[in-house]
Amino acid sequence: MRIILLGAPGAGKGTQAQFLMSKYGIPQISTGDMLRAAIKAGTELGLAAKQVMDAGQLVSDDIIIGLVKERIAESDCAKGFLLDGFPRTIPQADAMKEKGISIDHVIEFDVPDDVIVERMAGRRVHPASGRVYHISYNPPKVAGKDDVTGEDLVIRPDDVEETVRKRLAIYHEQTKPLVGYYRAEAEAGRTRYHHIDGTQAVEAVTARLVALLS
Ligand code: AP5
Ligand code: ZN
Repeated sequence: MRIILLGAPGAGKGTQAQFLMSKYGIPQISTGDMLRAAIKAGTELGLAAKQVMDAGQLVSDDIIIGLVKERIAESDCAKGFLLDGFPRTIPQADAMKEKGISIDHVIEFDVPDDVIVERMAGRRVHPASGRVYHISYNPPKVAGKDDVTGEDLVIRPDDVEETVRKRLAIYHEQTKPLVGYYRAEAEAGRTRYHHIDGTQAVEAVTARLVALLS
């Protein structure tokens, strides 16, 4: 099964990806996580991406498309994958289409900007695994520690309110057009499009996903 999770920063893509990965046994491809890993490793890509990401801007389409094509060619993606944070521009979506990579489900998480700003303020992440928590809505078992490894949780550098607002503006300008793009793809019978109210509690969103995908 090939799935695209589409939605604003903080809409809950990463949170639900954790569940979908284990339920369907398919890998999560998070371009954000891949870029953060490159920053941590100090690669050339990481050095170039850091400033762009910290400023809330998008990394160039060429770089991102190259990264995803390479990742999708790996053997664990043969049975399907979960795209989280990609595509987020029309050229990125076109690149998938041109490569003949069909998508079974596109899931749009709809969450108003003000709810997102509040969510980001309480987000904590485990960088090594990409696991995501919220201090109130999805707290770890032990405050500040990852549930699985017990390692420290951190605040993402792009989660300061000013940067979150910039990321939201870019989402509306560059990524939101993908809603119309994939609705048209669904009308042409090339994918299935689902709109989800992402303001519900984490478990309610998960239940909705199960119903949609089964
Ligand atoms: P990326 O890492 O993809 O960030 P994003 O898309 O901005 O999305 P987030 O990870 O912030 O949010 P999410 O939807 O995963 O929400 P989460 O589940 O964490 O990208 C980072 C940067 O990398 C970009 O800004 C860009 O620079 C670059 N980049 C990445 N991909 C790119 C691309 N394709 N092209 C170009 N540049 C790219 O949830 C958020 C919080 O809310 C958490 O605390 C969570 O616990 C909580 N929460 C989740 N669901 C609920 C709920 N239902 N109720 C209450 N709280 C909830
Ligand atoms: Zn995420």
